[in-house]
Amino acid sequence: MAKRRKAAKAKAKPAAKKSAKKVVRFKAKKPAPKRPVKAAAGNGMPKPSNRPWGQAGRALEGVKILDFTHVQSGPTCTQLLAYMGADVIKVERPGIGDITRGQLRDVKGADSLYFTMLNGSKRSITIDSKHPKGKEILERLVQLCDVLVENFAPGALDRMGLTFEHIHKLNPRMIVASVKGFGPGPYEDCKVYENVAQCAGGSASTTGFRDGPPLVTGAQIGDSGTGLHLALGIVSALYQRTRTGRGQKVFAAMQDGVLNLARVKLRDQQRLKHGPLTEYSQYGEGVPFGVATPRAGNDSGGGQPGWILKCKGWESDPDAYIYFITQAPIWGAICDLIGKPEWKTDPDYATPPARLPRLRQIFDTIEQWTMTKTKFEVMEICNKQDIPVGPILSMKEIAEEPSLRASGTVVEVDHPTRGKYLTVGNPIKMSDSLADVRRSPLLGEHTEEILAKVLGYSAADIAEIKTSGAITAPDKPAKAEAA
Ligand code: COA
Repeated sequence: MAKRRKAAKAKAKPAAKKSAKKVVRFKAKKPAPKRPVKAAAGNGMPKPSNRPWGQAGRALEGVKILDFTHVQSGPTCTQLLAYMGADVIKVERPGIGDITRGQLRDVKGADSLYFTMLNGSKRSITIDSKHPKGKEILERLVQLCDVLVENFAPGALDRMGLTFEHIHKLNPRMIVASVKGFGPGPYEDCKVYENVAQCAGGSASTTGFRDGPPLVTGAQIGDSGTGLHLALGIVSALYQRTRTGRGQKVFAAMQDGVLNLARVKLRDQQRLKHGPLTEYSQYGEGVPFGVATPRAGNDSGGGQPGWILKCKGWESDPDAYIYFITQAPIWGAICDLIGKPEWKTDPDYATPPARLPRLRQIFDTIEQWTMTKTKFEVMEICNKQDIPVGPILSMKEIAEEPSLRASGTVVEVDHPTRGKYLTVGNPIKMSDSLADVRRSPLLGEHTEEILAKVLGYSAADIAEIKTSGAITAPDKPAKAEAA
């Protein structure tokens, strides 16, 4: 009926005459009535808090993480989530714990810095995941937590009986996040450490000098880098869960993480098809390019040429260097600074393309100037002129830098067995979620607390669990674990 009525109405309308001249009249448009946009109405969110900044809880408050991680990649991820306010419960093997507790030990009998700097702000519970009672405790934790994070060798979690299907049956809201060396493919079953990932992810082949072997970098882009990727996946999955109500698998392969960080080198690989990479100093030196992205020494990875130059004191101080970028817009200021004002108009130097074949000579000339100043003097002079430079800071200088302490990037914490130590706080600053950087836990320090307060075991249950061997090392009383 309604359809027929619509059709009749359309018929009744006189068809517009094609030949008739159109008189266009401009009418002042009435302003649309002001309706509150959805976002202003809250989009279903609570009213904005009027508590002072930083006093409305932390970003991940209320999120419980079952932290089944060890060594570096996984612990980096869960430490970051702990800094963001999550309750991170680290599960460790009784009597042994995370293997890094004892690796690279500097203080006899105390947890190593390797461990303490990657496990701050967490709680530690010891559980033998292969013991029947241990399995039961673990399953209770699975039911209670929001996220399980692990970075065991491929298949290890399944061998414990914790397949994704089983976990999901116990807790359909659980997010199961894993780091592995490789994604699906020929290497998926391999165990992987940092430098393997740096090599397999394309970083090593593109790092170092052209005439030297591939190099790994000191920054742990395979381990810590992948931990960061995983953390982003976890918070995204937590956000998605607010709509779907269900958890999911989150997977970050170290090879993929490294490649993601080295993506500019895959960019260059594709550019090679269209000619030489003109910003690489080998272009200026007339060295032909091969089939793959070469190592570029200290060349800048972007479009603005740069190099590491010696500064005053370089003969005795291995870190008396500065990174100097000859950004095009401030070329004139650089020429004046280094006493080469004629380069501003000389056609061999005046434009970026003209400079490309002469970069080595240009940087040698700039270095003659930087060698007369300390790296901090160069920094001060150049910054005033907007010339981008970066001093090569040693770890000693970073540890002592007052601004890094003030910002909470470098934090000193106190530890019962090793005393005070420095750790890296949250590198991500949030105005309403202030990081709470606490020391790492001793092995099993919170076992009883978690059994009682988180899992609700009674004192009698706990006594029984203690004697069962599920939370203690074989033949060792529970107390001995913290050694
Ligand atoms: N109770 C009982 N057993 C436990 C346990 C617990 N609480 N925690 C761990 N285990 C067991 C595991 O079940 C596994 O046993 P299985 O091999 O019989 O299944 C065993 O400990 C060892 O785990 P695994 O992960 O194989 O350790 P590893 O020291 O041999 O290998 C890595 C270390 C890092 C090479 C490996 O874990 C790996 O490749 N991880 C993924 C990639 C990664 O994160 N690498 C970077 C590390 S920084």
